[in-house]
Amino acid sequence: MKKLGFVWGALALLAVFATSAGFAATAKEAPATVTIDDCVVKKAAVEFPHGTHAEKIACNACHHTQENLKADSTEEVATCASCHTAPEKAETPKCSEMSLTKNPFHLGCVNCHKEEVKKDATIKAPTKCDDCHPKG
Ligand code: HEC
Ligand code: HEC
Ligand code: HEC
Ligand code: HEC
Repeated sequence: MKKLGFVWGALALLAVFATSAGFAATAKEAPATVTIDDCVVKKAAVEFPHGTHAEKIACNACHHTQENLKADSTEEVATCASCHTAPEKAETPKCSEMSLTKNPFHLGCVNCHKEEVKKDATIKAPTKCDDCHPKG
């Protein structure tokens, strides 16, 4: 029975990889919405309207390691989590951080929203914790 347990364990692991950071999608498979949950521990997963952002903002503003990424590119797109979950260098921002200055999503998402809201207070760009991490 030990062997069977191992097989099921491996299958379960594969399923986890298939739905999260494991297999990279190409630009044409860019998601309309993404549930960002690879680092969830303390807070709820974040619903990200990817399509509306990708229409207005250059791909490489967020996918900063793929300089030439465009909507019609054929290259595979690495998830943020593939590099920001357990980065090689201590100074690279980690997605498990609570801090607004040490989490790559806080640095990327929250800082842009703050700047945009400063320019136009009528836009809906969340800057408060609970607006991105809904309370259960
Ligand atoms: C405002 C930031 C932002 C912009 C702009 C953006 N993306 Fe993304 N994209 C993300 C985030 C965040 C994810 C989710 C990554 C994760 O789960 O770690 C993502 C995921 C993806 C994925 C799925 C990756 C995978 O393997 O599952 C593809 C494909 C993608 N983006 C392509 C694009 C393309 C093409 C553009 C430009 C037309 C673009 N993105 C613009 C932030 C952005
Ligand atoms: C613009 C949206 C946004 C705002 C505002 C925001 N966060 Fe996050 N936060 C994220 C995203 C995206 C992640 C990455 C989640 C993941 O990868 O699982 C994250 C990750 C986290 C994590 C690590 C993952 C976990 O569940 O433990 C903590 C803790 C966290 N945020 C706390 C906060 C707190 C506290 C605030 C307010 C000071 C805040 N966040 C504001 C988007 C946001
Ligand atoms: C191939 C690995 C890799 C991928 C994929 C990646 N990053 Fe990064 N990121 C890094 C590294 C390494 C750093 C540290 C600074 C540097 O060397 O550029 C970094 C730095 C950052 C920073 C901090 C920049 C600053 O101002 O200090 C932010 C924000 C960030 N990444 C967000 C993201 C987001 C959002 C995604 C997905 C859309 C993403 N990264 C995908 C490797 C990656
Ligand atoms: C470069 C700037 C920029 C970045 C980076 C960015 N956003 Fe936004 N986001 C905006 C703007 C601008 C709006 C308001 C759009 C509008 O009102 O037309 C917005 C709106 C939103 C909304 C509200 C949508 C609605 O209709 O209620 C959510 C949720 C959101 N962003 C999540 C995120 C998350 C999560 C990230 C990081 C993965 C992120 N954003 C990164 C600029 C940005």
